[in-house]
Amino acid sequence: MSKTVLITGGAGFIGSHVVRLFVNKYADYKIVNLDALTYAGNLENLTDVANYSNYEFVKGDITDISFINSIFEKYNFDGVIHLAAESHVDRSISDPGAFINTNILGTVNLLNAARNYWKGNFKGKRFYHISTDEVYGSLGDDGMFTEDTSYDPRSPYSASKASSDHLVRAYMHTYKLPVVLTNCSNNYGGNQFPEKLIPLAINNIKNNKSIPIYGKGKNIRDWLFVNDHANAIDLVYHKGKNGETYNIGGNNEWQNIQLIYKLCEIMDLKLGRENGESAKLITFVKDRAGHDMRYAIDSSKIQKELGWKPSLEFEEGLEKTVDWYLDNETWLNNILSGKYEQYYEEQYVKR
Ligand code: NAD
Ligand code: DAU
Repeated sequence: MSKTVLITGGAGFIGSHVVRLFVNKYADYKIVNLDALTYAGNLENLTDVANYSNYEFVKGDITDISFINSIFEKYNFDGVIHLAAESHVDRSISDPGAFINTNILGTVNLLNAARNYWKGNFKGKRFYHISTDEVYGSLGDDGMFTEDTSYDPRSPYSASKASSDHLVRAYMHTYKLPVVLTNCSNNYGGNQFPEKLIPLAINNIKNNKSIPIYGKGKNIRDWLFVNDHANAIDLVYHKGKNGETYNIGGNNEWQNIQLIYKLCEIMDLKLGRENGESAKLITFVKDRAGHDMRYAIDSSKIQKELGWKPSLEFEEGLEKTVDWYLDNETWLNNILSGKYEQYYEEQYVKR
């Protein structure tokens, strides 16, 4: 094997797409997927590559320092692509503790292990930290987040991600650890846990349940197809410059309510419903606490310097996404267990 790469959080939504891309594209790499399999991690995301000879899954928790040390000792990684995180803003509002532990302390454990096991001999090594546009805060009607935008995180989730970003950069400045970071906008596509807006809405529409829209539905997100994010991660891992940050986004802003109308239109067609039928399920509910109004990413740096660009128009990506969830009923049903029902009840019914 020419390189051994640790991918953390590879059983989650984005991580599983990154693992699939790497094991298929780099037959001469060994890809080690480390994941704690929290409620959001699912090995069913990776059944197609599970038996590949260049792939190995290791179950473990990044908050467990002795476990992290043991895998660095065992595998002698050349690189780390760090995606493992608690990732859902609503959960960070009801239970911030898990976000502090995994997103901050877990990241520090990985940084320390990389520093200790690479022993200052950083040639050919790389620590790649995956972050979010939410660290930049919330925009008004105009402007976009660039790599120079000041950090202004406003939820426990985004504050924990911002904190981990600062620590990653601090390890570069202090210890010369070769790091690279990316901050990406909202991803969508297959394999996303149905607590996030798009898969939750698809599942509810399919089952004729109401579609909960927070507040007035005017908040804006910049949506990117998950495979485009995975391609960007591949590019940055191989071609990005140490110490640099690259913003990744779809240049694709949608108000939540407009997005949901578009999704309802697609679902009507796919389910053979009359046009407008699914939209009747839209229900405005209590707003998210501290709900950021608008995110928009300026991705010109990665486009110019590394030649990346999004490959899909939103309508095409949304239709592919709907098809994926309709074609993968077993995947969805396996996730919608008692625990999901309990979460759903607490998040939407009791509030
Ligand atoms: P996800 O919640 O779908 O997956 C997270 C994965 O991390 C899961 O497989 C989970 O089991 C694992 N994990 C959680 N805690 C762990 C721990 N303590 N030890 C080991 N594994 C653990 O998340 P996602 O949406 O795929 O996001 C992946 C990364 O990308 C995160 O760092 C997130 O902040 C970032 N990001 C996400 C988006 C998005 O739109 N989803 C956008 C930008 C950045
Ligand atoms: O911007 C990148 C971030 O995108 C990532 O860092 C996060 O990990 C990821 O979860 C996502 O965060 P959001 O909070 O933007 O995603 P979510 O799908 O939870 O919500 C999208 C928008 O839809 C947001 O404005 C809140 C709203 N919403 C969400 C849910 C779940 C609703 O109106 N109703 C809902 O039921």
